[in-house]
Amino acid sequence: MKKMFLKLVLLCLCLWRLDGVFGELVIVKDGDSVTLNSDLTEMKDDDVIQWKFKNTLIAEINKRADRITVYDDVLDGRFRDRLKLDNQTGSLTITNTTTEHVAVYYLQINSEIKRFRLGVQRELLDGERAVSVKEGDSVTLNYDLPEIKNVFVIQWMFKNTLIAQIIKLLDRIIVDDDVLDGRFRDRLKLDNQTGSLTITNTTTEHEGDYTRLINSMSTDFYLHVFVEMSVMEGDSVSLNSPLTEMKDDDVIQWRIGDENTVIAEINKRSDRITVYDDVLDGRFRDRLKLDNQTGSLTITNTTTEHAGDYKLLKFSERFSSKSFRVSVYARLPVPVISRDCLSSSSSSCSLVCSLVVNVSHVTLSWYKGISVLSSISASDLSISLSLPLEVEYQDKNTYSCVLNNPISNQTTHLDINTLCHTCAGI
Ligand SMILES: *[C@@H]1O[C@H](CO)[C@@H](O)[C@H](O)[C@H]1NC(C)=O
Ligand SMILES: *[C@@H]1O[C@H](CO)[C@@H](O)[C@H](O)[C@H]1NC(C)=O
Ligand SMILES: *[C@@H]1O[C@H](CO)[C@@H](O)[C@H](O)[C@H]1NC(C)=O
Ligand SMILES: *[C@@H]1O[C@H](CO)[C@@H](O)[C@H](O)[C@H]1NC(C)=O
Ligand SMILES: *[C@@H]1O[C@H](CO)[C@@H](O)[C@H](O)[C@H]1NC(C)=O
Ligand SMILES: *[C@@H]1O[C@H](CO)[C@@H](O)[C@H](O)[C@H]1NC(C)=O
Ligand SMILES: *[C@@H]1O[C@H](CO)[C@@H](O)[C@H](O)[C@H]1NC(C)=O
Ligand SMILES: *[C@@H]1O[C@H](CO)[C@@H](O)[C@H](O)[C@H]1NC(C)=O
Repeated sequence: MKKMFLKLVLLCLCLWRLDGVFGELVIVKDGDSVTLNSDLTEMKDDDVIQWKFKNTLIAEINKRADRITVYDDVLDGRFRDRLKLDNQTGSLTITNTTTEHVAVYYLQINSEIKRFRLGVQRELLDGERAVSVKEGDSVTLNYDLPEIKNVFVIQWMFKNTLIAQIIKLLDRIIVDDDVLDGRFRDRLKLDNQTGSLTITNTTTEHEGDYTRLINSMSTDFYLHVFVEMSVMEGDSVSLNSPLTEMKDDDVIQWRIGDENTVIAEINKRSDRITVYDDVLDGRFRDRLKLDNQTGSLTITNTTTEHAGDYKLLKFSERFSSKSFRVSVYARLPVPVISRDCLSSSSSSCSLVCSLVVNVSHVTLSWYKGISVLSSISASDLSISLSLPLEVEYQDKNTYSCVLNNPISNQTTHLDINTLCHTCAGI
């Protein structure tokens, strides 16, 4: 699942119909076809329809002159043999889409203008490396340096902007971290031996395409930055949008999982808030709260079914996204300390800390004061855990048995006086 999550890179994955009744959004995969619907069932005899990519005319139907024209040689031929115009409805189909087709499209029907935003979701390129990092952590982009005899220069680019380079001939490292609004300021480290680039204290602004050039040999990386959220079963978790206020034109969506299932949407343009809590077997039913100012999403009364990867997509002047990884941990039972009468002797008291649980990712430990004496972990669901301890009857230290998972713990303190005098016959 994690692998799949990394494989899909969202460039701007919307086909956005601002004027549509519903502001529907459609994902187009790299290489697939997409149809931009005119919403006309049939054109009238004197209709003129024009399709524009940004400001360039790419297709036209003039019913009056009975003319259909597709200008697919414009813009370096990026539309060549890729446009199909429906002569009944005026809808435009783009086949074999690539990231070059990402843009705003305008449809003019006589004097009425409709706006579409097309985005393409692409798979990782051949040879491209996917790297995933938790927001705030450091990440090093470093994969098998090719064997090159004479390395003259190693360069790193982020979305085609040079951010760091080593010029071996001059024995110089140049880190230009002031580019791109300073998002890399004081965050870049370039290793002068291996050429690897480390980004410290990552934020979602660092998500995107990186290219390493050694002499002229390039390797591509895609860095995926996610925010990690942990929550205890039954509690609420809030996934905070970076917006303080949504603008009038904004559309945001919350999606979950590899399938990118939409669970909530706010469309300011049509002033609509929609929560799709019936999807995925209803696991979100009555559990989603959407903040209509910021777009933040709260999941209440969580269960382990709500763990997963969430994405907030924002369609505005620019497309942007923010990823969250939610872990839901079970509530922990209290561990039980009991005396093991069979193993006890006259000089030492044998104890066992145990529990019957059906939770994962837990560790059971014996503590003496604040130091750990022993522990066992269970990463999968397990039925019973037990951990022995042997103490002298006169021992004056404090012992405790602690069960913990990454976000909580349950502790039982050992009372030697009470517990070690309960076996008959010793
Ligand atoms: C519309 O397209 C169909 C097939 O693509 C063609 O048979 C028909 O002649 C066209 N009509 C006009 C008016 O161009
Ligand atoms: C799709 O476009 C790519 C170039 O972007 C080309 O290599 C490929 O042959 C095209 N596929 C089809 C089915 O036209
Ligand atoms: C490269 O690193 C080595 C040791 O790590 C150091 O001695 C050398 O000065 C560094 N070169 C540059 C250009 O920083
Ligand atoms: C990490 O970056 C955030 C801003 O994005 C900043 O507030 C914080 O102080 C930085 N932390 C460290 C350890 O540099
Ligand atoms: C936003 O939410 C507040 C309180 O939850 C409500 O009073 C307001 O009407 C909502 N606005 C819209 C546009 O739904
Ligand atoms: C929380 O969800 C559980 C089922 O997962 C349900 O039994 C319980 O009533 C819910 N609690 C609240 C406060 O909604
Ligand atoms: C443990 O929990 C899982 C799901 O949470 C459930 O399918 C399984 O039946 C449980 N096992 C026991 C022994 O309770
Ligand atoms: C148990 O959790 C409390 C806070 O909830 C924390 O202060 C304490 O250090 C934790 N103990 C252990 C052994 O993890």
